[in-house]
Amino acid sequence: MKTYLVTGGAGFIGSNFVLYMLKKYNDVKIINVDVLTYAGNLENLKSVENNPNYKFVQANICDKDAITKIFEENEVDYVVNFAAESHVDRSIKNPEIFAETNVLGTVNMLNCAKNSWETETGWKEGVKFLHVSTDEVYGSLGETGFFMETTPLDPHSPYSSSKAGSDLMVKAYGDTYKMPINITRCSNNYGPYQFPEKLIPLVINNCLNKKPIPVYGDGMNIRDWLYVEDHCKAIDMVIRDGRLGEVYNVGGHNERNNMHIVKTIIEYVHDNVDSTVDESLITYVEDRKGHDRRYGIDPTKIKEELGWYPETPYEEGIKLTIKWFLDNKEWIENVTSGAYQNYYEKMYEGK
Ligand code: NAD
Ligand code: DAU
Repeated sequence: MKTYLVTGGAGFIGSNFVLYMLKKYNDVKIINVDVLTYAGNLENLKSVENNPNYKFVQANICDKDAITKIFEENEVDYVVNFAAESHVDRSIKNPEIFAETNVLGTVNMLNCAKNSWETETGWKEGVKFLHVSTDEVYGSLGETGFFMETTPLDPHSPYSSSKAGSDLMVKAYGDTYKMPINITRCSNNYGPYQFPEKLIPLVINNCLNKKPIPVYGDGMNIRDWLYVEDHCKAIDMVIRDGRLGEVYNVGGHNERNNMHIVKTIIEYVHDNVDSTVDESLITYVEDRKGHDRRYGIDPTKIKEELGWYPETPYEEGIKLTIKWFLDNKEWIENVTSGAYQNYYEKMYEGK
């Protein structure tokens, strides 16, 4: 029975990962550590809250005492570090909290894991710290080429810079203390439980409410979209079989420009939900500051070493996602109503 300390497990990818693991394996124990910011929502995990192999602990990854206690009370085999401030637009408005959670929080997680796992002769057997990072640390691509694991880091936004900072601290623990680590760098995820501030759920939500759809700049920025379950599968594989110290890029050669995404969603809603929804909702707005033009992952390493490949084609994944949001309107209401923001706002008042 392996014990996974999953941070940020109440967020979008984290909750999908917790659900994926508990569905796939009977012999894993998951401790979900999440402070529950506006982006963390325990409703996502309702179906597993009584599962004996699942436990939730509300704690901040920056809190040394709280995280130390979790390591003291549990035999943790793996840390999977999802917890982060994740939205680029928020980072442009308020960079400090990104440095605090993403960099200092990760360092605290590394330190607490090190205190628990280091032995006189090395490291407790079989442990690993997996840090979930992003392709945004590589910066922006021109019209050709892809991000490889060897591409130099060149982040632009406060978000991606804080993620690059945390990646380097994880690498430092691997290089300096020989801590068993992996870093995964994934492209844009989409799917159930994504907070409707990110492009795909925001467009779906605005279509359902017939609200203007804000398109930044010329709408021709390109992202490389991956269905969230395929990302969860990749993380599971890297924990189990990833070579220690290695970085793995995760993406499925699925590049689309933003306007294409917006039009696909409008068309689906028009044809299947409400024929009065159309492209007149599209509203060009001021471009994001420092807006990266194109992301594209080269996934050769994870494919060749671990046999990972994305199983969900975009055409299927986007339909599954729209249907999920249609079937879960109450979830959208709850997460956007502000009910979950009180804790976060109190905590970071004035920052
Ligand atoms: P999210 O914003 O949906 O969820 C983040 C979770 O972390 C929330 O549950 C939140 O409450 C929690 N959290 C935030 N600060 C915390 C703190 N100080 N202590 C404890 N918990 C805290 O994010 P997401 O989209 O699920 O992304 C998860 C991870 O994956 C992030 O590290 C992100 O950088 C990375 N990533 C995301 C994508 C994507 O497309 N969404 C792509 C590549 C990598
Ligand atoms: O590439 C991985 C990254 O993908 C993750 O590391 C981040 O956590 C995640 O938020 C995501 O970042 P992006 O900035 O690419 O995602 P976002 O959904 O915010 O924006 C996608 C594209 O759509 C981007 O070019 C900006 C544009 N956009 C976004 C919003 C929210 C719009 O045109 N209008 C919008 O309202």
